Amino acid sequence: MAKTRAAITGVHGWVPETRLTNADLEKMVDTNDEWIYTRTGIKERRILKTEGWATSDMCAEAVKGLLEKTGNSPEDIDMIIVATVTADMVFPDTANTVCDKIGAVNAFGYDINAACSGFLFALSTGAQFVQNETYRKVIVVGSDMMSSIIDYTDRNTCIIFGDGAGAVLLEPNYEDHGVMDFVLRGDGSGRHLLHMKAGGSLKPATHETVENREHFAYQDGRKVYAHAVKGMSTTTEEVLRRNNMTADDLQWIVPHQANMRIISTVAEYLKFPMERVMVNIEKYGNTTAGTLPLCLWEYESQLKKGDNLVLTAFGGGFTWGALYLKWAY
Ligand code: UT7
Repeated sequence: MAKTRAAITGVHGWVPETRLTNADLEKMVDTNDEWIYTRTGIKERRILKTEGWATSDMCAEAVKGLLEKTGNSPEDIDMIIVATVTADMVFPDTANTVCDKIGAVNAFGYDINAACSGFLFALSTGAQFVQNETYRKVIVVGSDMMSSIIDYTDRNTCIIFGDGAGAVLLEPNYEDHGVMDFVLRGDGSGRHLLHMKAGGSLKPATHETVENREHFAYQDGRKVYAHAVKGMSTTTEEVLRRNNMTADDLQWIVPHQANMRIISTVAEYLKFPMERVMVNIEKYGNTTAGTLPLCLWEYESQLKKGDNLVLTAFGGGFTWGALYLKWAY
């Protein structure tokens, strides 16, 4: 008998209505549409403007849609994991807030903070509970309200990031479909190249940290770029090798959407055709933990049962990895 796997049995996404276009950014910082589009592949991003809303609200919208689509009620859910770096508050976690907002009274939850690799880390974590048959219905959400930590006077970051949420339902599968394997990596020595300088226990908020604009995301784009290409390419290769596969055995690669040039360089390195690489960076920019589930959501209608997918990401920490998934429906 095939072992119990954790399969994705539904996916849903939610993005705010407000669009921040390259033309809008031209009025805010010294940049232009041509530079942004050719260097990043981004045309616009979504920004959450709803008064009183935060990351948990985007998660709740994505989860509500997911429940409706999959015919589940909130009470059916055992657990919700939220991958995010923009939790509603430093504490408590966002996942329990989401449980409360959607009425998942039988669920518990917690957040995973692994920046742009957050969804990969959360998906592999959630899969363990299902594979071990501890829980039967686990929801994994990737969501970030990057606009809450972006300095809209810094052209190195404000052109890239956007807001959004994507959620998947994990359930047991006995036909050898679902999360098959993953390679996850971290290297904390890269933490200074992509981080928020203040607001944590190392440097709590003061007038000075606010004046110095230290409560925003900072990145050394060029260095992060090089690490991202290498990290996503090598972990994808490794997860394929471990499963006696090559890129030819894959129907789809689902890459983190940080920069179109990173995506195409990884595809080129793997000799994988771009038509089978999921891309939506043009519309949403980099939504950090949201990129992978938002891609799955948008490409869901093109996926077929048995398709082999590799999800790969790189982000602050540094954190990175690749996860091999066999699509179950
Ligand atoms: O998701 C988490 C991981 N994050 C990433 O993977 C992001 C990785 N990095 C990147 O995507 C890219 O490094 C950026 C998009 C951030 C920057 O692109 P780049 O091609 O690496 O540009 P650069 O920083 O090397 O700058 C090239 C030139 C510079 O001018 P000079 O020194 O050549 O005269 C910059 O000052 O482009 C200039 N520049 C800009 N010009 C117009 C930098 N940002 C901008 C801008 N608009 N927004």
